[in-house]
Amino acid sequence: MTDLPTSGPTPDGPEAAATATEAPASTESAMPDASRDRASGASGAHRFSRQRRKAAADDVALGEVILEVTDLKKHFPMHAPGIIRRAGDPVKAVDGISFSVRKGETLGLVGESGCGKSTAGRTVLQLLAPTSGTIRYQGKDVTNADGKELRRLRKELQMVFQDPYGSLNPRQTVGTIIAAPFHIQGIKPEGGIKAEVQRLMERVGLNPEHYNRFPHEFSGGQRQRIGIARAVALRPKVIVCDEPVSALDVSIQAQVVNLLEDLQDEFELTYVFVAHDLAVIRHISDRVAVMYLGKIMELATRDELYENPLHPYTQALLSAVPIPDPRREHKRERILLKGDLPSPINPPSGCVFHTRCPRYREELSESERTRCTTEVPAIQGDSDHTVACHFAGPPKIEVL
Ligand SMILES: Nc1ncnc2c1ncn2[C@@H]1O[C@H](COP(=O)(O)OP(=O)(O)OP(=O)(O)O)[C@@H](O)[C@H]1O
Ligand code: SF4
Ligand SMILES: [Mg+2]
Repeated sequence: MTDLPTSGPTPDGPEAAATATEAPASTESAMPDASRDRASGASGAHRFSRQRRKAAADDVALGEVILEVTDLKKHFPMHAPGIIRRAGDPVKAVDGISFSVRKGETLGLVGESGCGKSTAGRTVLQLLAPTSGTIRYQGKDVTNADGKELRRLRKELQMVFQDPYGSLNPRQTVGTIIAAPFHIQGIKPEGGIKAEVQRLMERVGLNPEHYNRFPHEFSGGQRQRIGIARAVALRPKVIVCDEPVSALDVSIQAQVVNLLEDLQDEFELTYVFVAHDLAVIRHISDRVAVMYLGKIMELATRDELYENPLHPYTQALLSAVPIPDPRREHKRERILLKGDLPSPINPPSGCVFHTRCPRYREELSESERTRCTTEVPAIQGDSDHTVACHFAGPPKIEVL
């Protein structure tokens, strides 16, 4: 069985060490990130309050579509094995995904490692050139934007990266890092760049006096705040957050998620939030897209997806999420996903999930299985809930 981790990695050495010593680099309190969070009881599956996003979801229903992605593909060309250099089969990292995001909304993108989440996020932001498909931003086709249009997109569409260690230049001061977008875009904020950068530092919970410090002087959580300050510096409209908390100590994740939510309210941001942690996704998302091998298997409003999952893959993922009640957790059956993710170079025929699908394996007749192996399932459903499965339906057991 391949379980998705549901609460992110445990603290690594540098994070643990940094949080123990770097309290002064934050203005929030003299207590280090981790201790402060533990003190507020934020840990495990209970670390996120669900209240706030519920209210937001109602508002979001009113927002217009700001980003629309249709049949987007990103295939990476590969060389065939052998001495002679010739083209081989491409890696179909993203293979025909469609979704739209409304203004102020958070669309969660979830799935196993290697299913194409980061590639999808980067391609949507034009950090990678799409192989085919269309990307519309504010109603305009920007798929092959260049020149002035691309410059505008760079300002309005931003990214927060997963790795708070690798995404910041270790030789630049925090001030230089956060100021970079202003220099690149040739924008001079009122009061000057330094004052604006210090204001941003304060806003994301960093001490503005630490303007001249280097990234290694900050903890992982604080570094992610630096990345967030850089991403919001130019007041973008859409931010792709690519696993922004999964490299952080579990106890710090809630703080960074809360910061992202506060900034979303304050700056009316729209998020595409990539994660493999279903607890984080459930907390932050208004709608959720479940990806498998470069395709979207199911897309629904958050509550609909968690309470009424119709795709066997979503059901398997949810059945792996630990339940806080130990008695229920003990009695609970799990839907097993056997085997590894197949290669995106040579994905299975028909429904790409058929090689691991528990429904295919245990519930279908021979003729139904033939359909799964030969016919790509069409996306069906309504605006609240779509699913790509010939035999979509509720699970036989309670999954969450
Ligand atoms: N530049 C590249 N060249 C070739 N293959 C790539 C490239 N970038 C990604 N891939 C492949 O594309 C697939 C999707 O990768 P991607 O990083 O988008 O997945 P992911 O869902 O973000 O995974 P993770 O959860 O581990 O971050 C993987 O098989 C990966 O090896
Ligand atoms: S189409 Fe068939 S193989 Fe694919 S998810 Fe549905 S039941 Fe499983
Ligand atoms: Mg990724």
